[in-house]
Amino acid sequence: MEVQWTGVKPPKLGPPHTIVGLIFFVLLGVWYAQALEMSVGKIPFLEAVNGSTVVIPCTYASCIGIKNLYFNWQFNDNGTMQKVCESVIPSEGIEPHVSIYRERVEFVGKNHNNNISILLWNITFEDGGEYTCFGRNPKEKDKNHSAIFNLIVVDELRVVDNTLTIIIASAVGGAIALLMGFMLLKNLTLFVLAKLEEKNKECLVTSSGIDNTENGLSGSKADSKPTPKKK
Ligand SMILES: *[C@@H]1O[C@H](CO)[C@@H](O)[C@H](O)[C@H]1NC(C)=O
Ligand SMILES: *[C@@H]1O[C@H](CO)[C@@H](O)[C@H](O)[C@H]1NC(C)=O
Ligand SMILES: *[C@@H]1O[C@H](CO)[C@@H](O)[C@H](O)[C@H]1NC(C)=O
Ligand SMILES: *[C@@H]1O[C@H](CO)[C@@H](O)[C@H](O)[C@H]1NC(C)=O
Ligand SMILES: *[C@@H]1O[C@H](CO)[C@@H](O)[C@H](O)[C@H]1NC(C)=O
Repeated sequence: MEVQWTGVKPPKLGPPHTIVGLIFFVLLGVWYAQALEMSVGKIPFLEAVNGSTVVIPCTYASCIGIKNLYFNWQFNDNGTMQKVCESVIPSEGIEPHVSIYRERVEFVGKNHNNNISILLWNITFEDGGEYTCFGRNPKEKDKNHSAIFNLIVVDELRVVDNTLTIIIASAVGGAIALLMGFMLLKNLTLFVLAKLEEKNKECLVTSSGIDNTENGLSGSKADSKPTPKKK
């Protein structure tokens, strides 16, 4: 009865240390791929007019999931980092209770789709500068992650910049016009050259035909009309 069982051998798996090593490397790769990531979007700056209300965006992403994710916003005030607000997100989708330390600041992300953006009401020139979105996920050995967003506060009346823009625009426009003119000219020249070449080719074909008949290389033609052309 037990003879049947001895006949079935388990599949060969190789030495155990190889498998352990493989698993280790796979886990390592997965670990690095799934680290927490803070993002302020593709355009990490905003130019806004004095007195307007702006959103400073930030989202987090983590494939291993979050648990008690700590996050804060910091404002770089002349080199000293001022905490704007901070909170702990128990888990994804739960709206956190955010402590706010700066005036005219509102937490608007509400953790919808990992959104932890803030809103700045009626910005002043003092609000301009770097805003750091900082996050730390206890699930990843408390590693720090952050992203920086730059807010540039400008005056409504930017005459110098407008003239500069116009200058640049006209310069670019002029350059494009010049380029188009050049391209047109180039194309025209190429066209004429091509036409000339075509003619030349025709000429060459004819002349070579004549040459052949003249030299008597192309048999039948040379035979039929040997002499009359060279008169
Ligand atoms: C900026 O906006 C505030 C409020 O609108 C205004 O009081 C202040 O004069 C403005 N500053 C400048 C330089 O325009
Ligand atoms: C930042 O520093 C400059 C000079 O270093 C100073 O004039 C300015 O008042 C400072 N701003 C704040 C908000 O401390
Ligand atoms: C922003 O400015 C508007 C108009 O000046 C004012 O009504 C509003 O209360 C201000 N908001 C904050 C949060 O200061
Ligand atoms: C985050 O929330 C703010 C306010 O609701 C919104 O303006 C912004 O577009 C959101 N960002 C993303 C990436 O969903
Ligand atoms: C993470 O940031 C905190 C400050 O928020 C700091 O005390 C800690 O040393 C940092 N940890 C690492 C690993 O950089």
